[in-house]
Amino acid sequence: MPWAGPAAMTEPISSRTPHPPGAGIAGPLAVAGKLATRRDNVPVSATLAANEALQRRRQRGEQVLPLAFGEAGLPVHPRLIAELAAAAGRGSYGPVAGSPRLRAAAAGYWSRRSLPTEPEAVVSGPGSKALLFGTMLALGTSIALPRPSWVSYAAQATLADVTPQFVPAVAGEGGVCDPDALEAAVRSRRHGDRPIGAVLMTLPDNPTGRLASPAAVRAVCEVAERHGLLIISDEIYRDLVHDPDLPFLSPALVAPDRTIVTTSLSKNLAAGGWRIGVARMPDGPAGSALRARLLGIASEIWSAAAGPMQEAAAVALDEPADLADRVRRSRALHAAVCREAARRCTAAGLDVAPPQAAFYLYPDFTPWRDKLLARFGVRTGDDLATLLLDQYGAGTLPGSAFGESPSCLRLRLATSMLYGDTDAEREQALAAADPLRLPWIAAALDRFGAILADLSGLDDLAA
Ligand SMILES: Cc1ncc(COP(=O)(O)O)c(C=O)c1O
Repeated sequence: MPWAGPAAMTEPISSRTPHPPGAGIAGPLAVAGKLATRRDNVPVSATLAANEALQRRRQRGEQVLPLAFGEAGLPVHPRLIAELAAAAGRGSYGPVAGSPRLRAAAAGYWSRRSLPTEPEAVVSGPGSKALLFGTMLALGTSIALPRPSWVSYAAQATLADVTPQFVPAVAGEGGVCDPDALEAAVRSRRHGDRPIGAVLMTLPDNPTGRLASPAAVRAVCEVAERHGLLIISDEIYRDLVHDPDLPFLSPALVAPDRTIVTTSLSKNLAAGGWRIGVARMPDGPAGSALRARLLGIASEIWSAAAGPMQEAAAVALDEPADLADRVRRSRALHAAVCREAARRCTAAGLDVAPPQAAFYLYPDFTPWRDKLLARFGVRTGDDLATLLLDQYGAGTLPGSAFGESPSCLRLRLATSMLYGDTDAEREQALAAADPLRLPWIAAALDRFGAILADLSGLDDLAA
């Protein structure tokens, strides 16, 4: 079934999300009270909140082990800094979709990855997060999300008045809904007032650090094809797959008329604070309709991505040799540290799928469930994350932040904040042939091992 384009195309956004009656008359508190309905369950993003809690502990002089925040943890490459400085005079708003230079560079980036792309298909924004949110606002249907999946998808969907429907991820993989479970979910909501009109994939995945197989991607594309779903493919970690020979299949290759791809400089070039991202719109008339709607939304929220960032991002997306080398080095560093953390988990008796990308691992503490309950009163993943923070100063995120049930004892660990306290240390980590031998990285990993040993009640697991 062809994807018919955004469901709410004929319905103005203002009629779907009415302003509370009387807003502006009864005063700000009354307005806030009326707004606190469906949206009252969207607190500050769990990742950002965990990071702030850890910063407060650090400021009090307490020892911390920062494993919560999914920031790339590396300095921005000097070439990009110079490009940004040179573009600081770019003060005009420019086109909503982004400058022709940026869109051409993004088109080149995707074309070099076997996804032929015209500059007209590219829309930029202040980070891929904003582009994902704009896409959710454009949808007007429910969206299927893999369970687990990145904290912000479900929150953004809720804010956009789009119902998030979690579907278990393919067993042993990550970032992609199990196709049979997706089929069942789509069928079960078919006649409701908000049928599922879109499905999201994260390739490779946060929180699991896994890359879904081409077979799993194809299977989800088939379900999307059968039911006319839009596919949102979040490929922000694509360049950080540890083994470049691992097969990567973008759904945009399988289902070009129904797939929107997003990416940014935040992870591969560690420029998350720059807030610049790009989206590749689907081919065909439905893709053009979605593009028009996204541009309308963009024009009313961010107008255009920041001009100087666009210039620097264009250079990054051209992938000159020095920046490509930077991405290669960071990939190797992420792989080394993340794999070592996973090795320590396995040695301690936890279940963890070997990380394949970025700096995430998603160990399951279920083997210690009885012990954790008896020794610490831990019943839920949130209890476990709180214990780690309060008792050991270790910031982690519980599985519940990624859509898991409260009883799930998985934690997402991000190892990218272990590379050093200063840019000089982080540059050394990038340059090191064996970053695990750098004293500060070794110490952080040893501390992690010691915490696991203490948690499990054994003392010989630290190394
Ligand atoms: C899976 C995923 N998608 C999107 C983003 C947002 O990235 P950006 O900085 O481009 O907005 C993140 C950031 O943590 C992420 O982990």
